[in-house]
Amino acid sequence: MNDSLTRRRFLRQSFVFSALAGVGGVPSFAGLGKARPDAAATQMLLVGDWGYEDFQAQSKVAAGMRTYVQEHSLKTDALLMLGDNWYGPLPGGVASERWRTQFEEMYPKSVFDCPAYAILGNHDYQRMPESKVDSELAYANKGGTRWTMPSRWYRFEFPAKNPLMTVIALDSNMPHPAGAQAKGANFTLTPEEQAEQLKWLELELEKQLTTPFLIVMGHHPIFSNGMHGDTPVLVRDWEPLLRKHKVHLYLAGHDHDMQHLEFAGHPTSFVLSGGGGADLYTLKIEETLRGPYAAKVYGFSHLEVTAEKLTLRHMDEAGRVMHGFTKTPDGTVGILS
Ligand SMILES: [Fe+2]
Ligand SMILES: [Zn+2]
Repeated sequence: MNDSLTRRRFLRQSFVFSALAGVGGVPSFAGLGKARPDAAATQMLLVGDWGYEDFQAQSKVAAGMRTYVQEHSLKTDALLMLGDNWYGPLPGGVASERWRTQFEEMYPKSVFDCPAYAILGNHDYQRMPESKVDSELAYANKGGTRWTMPSRWYRFEFPAKNPLMTVIALDSNMPHPAGAQAKGANFTLTPEEQAEQLKWLELELEKQLTTPFLIVMGHHPIFSNGMHGDTPVLVRDWEPLLRKHKVHLYLAGHDHDMQHLEFAGHPTSFVLSGGGGADLYTLKIEETLRGPYAAKVYGFSHLEVTAEKLTLRHMDEAGRVMHGFTKTPDGTVGILS
């Protein structure tokens, strides 16, 4: 047997063992059933890769989000928009009609009366016709919207009163290694901005943590079983920092599927929620090889946080729970059954 296969099996078996230890029983995926949210917890919904030009699938996922919230009488405290917010042209920039049809009314304030914290994806890093990055920052700045993007990378504690989590929102649009800055409308961070952000991230992570949970989010996954696979520059620059500072969750999109990956001995759970509306991608690595969960499906995610534990659930477009797990501040993971 080759080394990498042996290693993968070992990692998987180790994880299954630690997951069992976390819940104190044999997890049964078949019995996942309906979510039973905790009314006292902070509630966030996550959606990635959503602002597609043909927004039929986005509309279905958004309807699933609304139904889910209403059925569970959830008060959503925040939305996390995981990038690839706008595919295709955004004519008029801040004045584009798409803000109304595909954001304000798609995820309406009447249901989601909360800030929508957004990060930038590769499709946002396009000039169509002007920079969508600039338009998204300007839209947040204009006021009167839930759209929240104070800068391309930022940090916040949430909720404001008795915060439970520190969230570090990053810009993962790294310059291409060969130095090519742009192809057509596409652009990226400059190498100087890349270095500046990395320094900032190191400094933020060095600060004394004042919340039970530490969460990092970036559009590109560090590890992914999906079509794009792992992101080498993020494995090099960010992964060691997540490990060192025991980050609880890394949240990403980019691959148009839903994933939850664990690695034995790694303190971070890698969550990918990229099913918000863009065409789905076929997975490259099955969840039996690297998991515990990876599925080619439209959907969104629900993050519920108390001081004792966080619960992350992946939902399909109808709002049915497909997979879920809990994590305690000390890093113990339990698969929901
Ligand atoms: Fe995408
Ligand atoms: Zn992307």
